[in-house]
Amino acid sequence: MIVVVGSVNQDLVARVEHHPVPGETVLGSGHETMPGGKGANQAVAAARLGSDVVFVGRIGADEAGRDLVGEFEREGVDVGHLTVDPVAPSGLAIITVDDAAENAIVVSPGANGNVSPSDVEGASAALMAATVTLLQLEIPMDAVLAAAGASEGIVILNAAPAMHLPIALLKSIDVLIVNRGELATLTGSGDPLSARSLPVPVTIVTLGGEGARIIRADTRESVAAIDVTPVDTTGAGDTFCGALAAGLDDGLSLESSVQRAVIAGSLAVTAIGARSGMPTLPELEGALRTVGL
Ligand code: RIB
Repeated sequence: MIVVVGSVNQDLVARVEHHPVPGETVLGSGHETMPGGKGANQAVAAARLGSDVVFVGRIGADEAGRDLVGEFEREGVDVGHLTVDPVAPSGLAIITVDDAAENAIVVSPGANGNVSPSDVEGASAALMAATVTLLQLEIPMDAVLAAAGASEGIVILNAAPAMHLPIALLKSIDVLIVNRGELATLTGSGDPLSARSLPVPVTIVTLGGEGARIIRADTRESVAAIDVTPVDTTGAGDTFCGALAAGLDDGLSLESSVQRAVIAGSLAVTAIGARSGMPTLPELEGALRTVGL
């Protein structure tokens, strides 16, 4: 079983030819409201691949919150530790996706900003029983630290969005997942090998269309992505993290789990919205067969 402690947002996604620069107004070519949030996306990615997933987080007492709960339920994610915040609204992400499939995101955390160590404490039995705990950085740091400390299984931290981290957090995780920009924030360099300066046993650096690198103190491995036509890269990293957690929860090796995660992340960019391209287990297995895995 996987426990995800993290954020859940409503995503307002607009398509644009190019992202506006400060002071510029651009005309988009349509918009949609979709479920999102790094934590929730990762929970759904793992659930679609067959894992039992418990989500710990907060929504607002509003229509967006009710919709987001409905999405979790449709995906089979356990919402027994999802708290309705009495004051703050549900989290909102305002996303533009340009013609090159790249996104720009502003997150207004709302209720995610009130996730607390006591919310984590309420889920302590689940955290102790979990094979994998999956964390990101869209909720307060004290809650992330509490979740890492309360977990007895494998602790994975996706250090997104990019920020500096307390050493205590790095020392309490087993696997760190970062893209080049997030790595540069932590080490001063986007070179995957710079991850060796961090006090974590394994760092996985995601490289978009180039796949991923697995960096340990004395080994490094490259895992290739598959060729796809990208439509929207939003949620590709989340799909990677959820799929990696699902592989480890299933008892696969780290290397096999990364292989599956890279392909799941590649599939995720083929549709607009964080979750639209996220594969189900049969879809992922089909893609793995296509590349002979
Ligand atoms: O990683 C993509 C996610 O980041 C979006 O769904 C948005 O909600 C932001 O949290």
